[in-house]
Amino acid sequence: METEILRVDSKKPDQEAMKRAGKLIAAGELVAFPTETVYGLGGDALDPEASKKIYAAKGRPSDNPLIVHIAEFDDLSRVAREVPEEAKLLADAFWPGPLTMIVWKSEAVPYATTGGMDTVAVRMPNHPVALSLIRESGCLIAAPSANTSGRPSPTEAAHVADDLSGRIAMILDGGPVGIGIESTIIDLTEEKPMVLRPGYITPQMLSDVIGREVIIDPGIIAMDDTKKPKAPGMKYKHYAPKADMAIVEGDEEAVVSAIKLLTSRAKAAGKRVAVIASDETQARYRGNSRSESGAPQHGAAHSEADASCCGDNADEFAADVVLSMGSRADEDSIARHLYHILRECDELGVDEIYSESFSTPRIGNAIMNRLLKAAGHQVLQAEDIE
Ligand code: TXA
Ligand code: MG
Repeated sequence: METEILRVDSKKPDQEAMKRAGKLIAAGELVAFPTETVYGLGGDALDPEASKKIYAAKGRPSDNPLIVHIAEFDDLSRVAREVPEEAKLLADAFWPGPLTMIVWKSEAVPYATTGGMDTVAVRMPNHPVALSLIRESGCLIAAPSANTSGRPSPTEAAHVADDLSGRIAMILDGGPVGIGIESTIIDLTEEKPMVLRPGYITPQMLSDVIGREVIIDPGIIAMDDTKKPKAPGMKYKHYAPKADMAIVEGDEEAVVSAIKLLTSRAKAAGKRVAVIASDETQARYRGNSRSESGAPQHGAAHSEADASCCGDNADEFAADVVLSMGSRADEDSIARHLYHILRECDELGVDEIYSESFSTPRIGNAIMNRLLKAAGHQVLQAEDIE
């Protein structure tokens, strides 16, 4: 199958283009599209055959349920057996936006879409292209992140093309996404509302709206197998780069020294090393000749800059590649760069990755949840490295 890549204006998508994309969805085909969080891989949510195609294209286990995307609040009552009062409050506060709610499913939703579960995940995305696609298709759209199962979620159309070209009908390219990590998932079918996946909307924000405590699924905090996360997707080793990855924790000075030491040891063993740092620290991992490096850049720009870094002047502590997640003063920018950087690590063909820790004040939990998974929960304490 040839995959058509169609550029659309992310604020005011061309109507004819959106009509064409909508027709593909209505005909049971798959279309990848931008949302405010990450790119999604869409198909008709009420057509079991379309859901099966989604699982096949992603190589995703079919017991891992899909999120149903809607464009009007009233459509929640089509897919939910009943709409809880708290869902109305949360929708008022956060929809359209990066919040997914789990409710009991109605008969209309096929088990192929919910991975056999009696509950369904629903979200109204805050992106003109996504909303227009739902409306033009006349369908509700089931959409997981548009990556091959196990790879980082896509934050730009090129990531989708890398993973899914030839397997889906169309990719709507609306440029890079705004948030960069997947929606917060709240389960409203439990006695206490429970966050199954942390995201941009924090438990505190949710609890402020519904006026009672929101707990966090103990299964996503546990680092061992003693507790299983409730969202099936959270149990997989997601977002793992091909290289071995470890996160180094501690205060800034200790972390920089520890990572430099780890880097020099790995290099002595013939390994290629990438370091994931911040705008504030990135220069310190480069060779002496580059310690005066210019304005901070993110993502791909680094690899080019660093392609020339490994010459005679680079000292033994210098990483082969230094990537910056962004400024610690701007946690949104860290979320936005995360998956791009993890994908880049694969492209650069490094053997080891050492990352600083990014437990920022507000969405640090959501960021660290992804980073810890990428690292397979390998965390080193800087003070132990000597
Ligand atoms: O931001 C997002 O949510 C993106 C964009 C495209 O909307 N979508 C996304 O979908 O991240 P996906 O399929 O990659 O992740 C959905 C997560 C999985 O961990 C899945 O197990 C969980 O939601 N999930 C879906 N339905 C569920 C249900 N009924 N009960 C528990 N967990 C559920
Ligand atoms: Mg996903």
